[in-house]
Amino acid sequence: MSEPTIEVYEVEDRTFPPSEAFQATALSSDRSLYDEANADYEAFWARQARELITWDKPFTKVLEWDLPYAKWFSDGQLNMSYNCLDRHVEAGRGDKIAYYFEGEPGDTKTFTYAELLDEVKKFANGLLGLGLEKGDRVAIYMPMIIELPIAMLACSRIGVVHSVIYGGFSPEAIRGRCEDADCKAVITADAGYRRGVPSGLKPLVDEALADGAPTVNNVIVYDRCNTDIDMVEGRDIWWHDLVADASLDCPAEPMDAEQLLFLLYTSGTTAKPKGIMHTTGGYLTQACFTHKYVFDIDPENDVYWCGADIGWITGHSYIVYGPLTNGVTSLMYEGTPDTPRMEERVGNDRANWHKGRLWDIVERYGVTQFYTAPTAIRTFMKWGDEEVEGYDLSSIRVLGTVGEPINPEAWMWYHENIGKEARPIVDTWFQTETGGHVLTPLPGVATTKPGSAVGGIPGTFPELVDDAGNVITKGGGYLTLARPWPSMLRGIWRNPELYMSTYWEQYPGRYFCGDGAKLDDDGYLWLLGRVDDVMNVSGHRISTTEVESALVEHPAVAEAAVVGAADDLKGQAIVGYTILVADVEPGDDIRSELSDFVATKLGPIARPRDVYLVDDLPKTRSGKIMRRLLRDIAAGNALGDTSTLADSDVVEAIRVGSAEADEE
Ligand code: WTA
Repeated sequence: MSEPTIEVYEVEDRTFPPSEAFQATALSSDRSLYDEANADYEAFWARQARELITWDKPFTKVLEWDLPYAKWFSDGQLNMSYNCLDRHVEAGRGDKIAYYFEGEPGDTKTFTYAELLDEVKKFANGLLGLGLEKGDRVAIYMPMIIELPIAMLACSRIGVVHSVIYGGFSPEAIRGRCEDADCKAVITADAGYRRGVPSGLKPLVDEALADGAPTVNNVIVYDRCNTDIDMVEGRDIWWHDLVADASLDCPAEPMDAEQLLFLLYTSGTTAKPKGIMHTTGGYLTQACFTHKYVFDIDPENDVYWCGADIGWITGHSYIVYGPLTNGVTSLMYEGTPDTPRMEERVGNDRANWHKGRLWDIVERYGVTQFYTAPTAIRTFMKWGDEEVEGYDLSSIRVLGTVGEPINPEAWMWYHENIGKEARPIVDTWFQTETGGHVLTPLPGVATTKPGSAVGGIPGTFPELVDDAGNVITKGGGYLTLARPWPSMLRGIWRNPELYMSTYWEQYPGRYFCGDGAKLDDDGYLWLLGRVDDVMNVSGHRISTTEVESALVEHPAVAEAAVVGAADDLKGQAIVGYTILVADVEPGDDIRSELSDFVATKLGPIARPRDVYLVDDLPKTRSGKIMRRLLRDIAAGNALGDTSTLADSDVVEAIRVGSAEADEE
């Protein structure tokens, strides 16, 4: 295992306690939730599950823990979409707005809880009409429009398992995920608006299905952009046709608490993404609890906005399931943070784009919670304070960040420019695997430090261990969770061995998350980034092996090694070192062709920032590529120990070669 790759920031030792005004109204302004959970964490989670969730059949069992498999509330029954929708309508809150939608071109829509419920029932009946049954898997590949949560909720209503695929992924990624899970249908849109133009989705689904994924019988297409697309006879159905005559009678069927709710594929250390499995009762309990307390939700008055994409776990838990269960009004925005100005839609000069688009939205809707990623904050910093000035951001009560370690400079910028030095910031650490937040301050209690995720939420037991697995209480180590938690993954789809070896074998009895962290003298926890071969590019997980496999598929490449390098904006950027086959002419043409090739194979987020052409790769005597050395080269650092290297001249040659390539 290699050392953490992200530097530890030296910070001024500043601390930020919650303001008295905030504490006076905060949901949690003392440590009683922690005390309760520390005294008996099962009883604590059972109380949350009973109070936050409506059960069709109450549970009597809380936790069954047969390492590495947990079951929570297993004899209880509930329906996810009932908890998100029906119960609010039944309580007389049907007219409450569930979502404000703002499209990238500036079109807007609102959906009340009652309207959303009707759409979900109709769409669920549409799915049933296609012959889908409880337990079947369906892929969803959509832009950030309300129909995406509608599709997810409709699946959950009838027990169909959804697998949401991020809209920026490639046809190969769609095919791979559909094949792995034997998906029976794909739900998509013709296109979505991105950077001022429709960006096609359905054509990529067609490509994905052209030579694979034979289990997919139907493709349901929402007409978002009115683009010209092909519809395959007998396979493809328009969303509007599917729901046109659909009945509004669609009871929410009670599901077992451990009914599989969704798969979400994520990158690990293997070339193939793994299907992380989440079930219903425990997942919903933690998503709902954390959403409510971490963002201090007031369902009557708040307009909550999480700017993530639903293609990631953050969107699942904190745009769809958590906020809806809490009955709050959320905002959903389709586009990118900078977009062509509406009045100047013609032309594509990025310099003129609207860089205050998000702040304009905050002001117009009176957003009360704003939740984004450090990479976005660093982009706002680069655009300059003047892009924020002039907008009224006084409605904001809580700020959040997620996805990667936040550097203290970005934290301070967020605090000063968006939080006006008065709003608490919650730095939330979690993973696709953990389902819901695990580390984060609660805003009413915690004193925060810029750049620190502070510590575990009530009812979770994060601990750092050293190489030998001994618990350490100060300094750097590997982040583990010592006890199960309700929203934990229930496995990797069809791969129990990988589940065991990825998370449970390194430190027996503990879940290992793949991150390094350190505890400072005051007991504050700081994330240091991944310690395995996973990169974090703009808050997105990408595996080095996945990019390497893509590179070597190109006929010009004989061998490739990929590492993450520190990047001011993205956190990490992808850097590839490739050895070309003999008859290919080295040069910038092939370098950019290889970057394009990876972007086409895996999707634009996986595009390498640099591809270097090298004659050799540093290998240990046993033939393993020494990524640590390549990382040091990519970072321009002094090289560490090269004594196990088979040929130490190789490293020097690469270093000189990549410096020359950069100069060109
Ligand atoms: C990283 C995203 C530091 C971490 C929610 C983790 C973070 C991986 C933070 C999971 C944070 C997420 N501070 N690092 N607040 N949040 N990470 O599965 O390396 O896409 O293991 O889930 O992102 O990425 P995933």
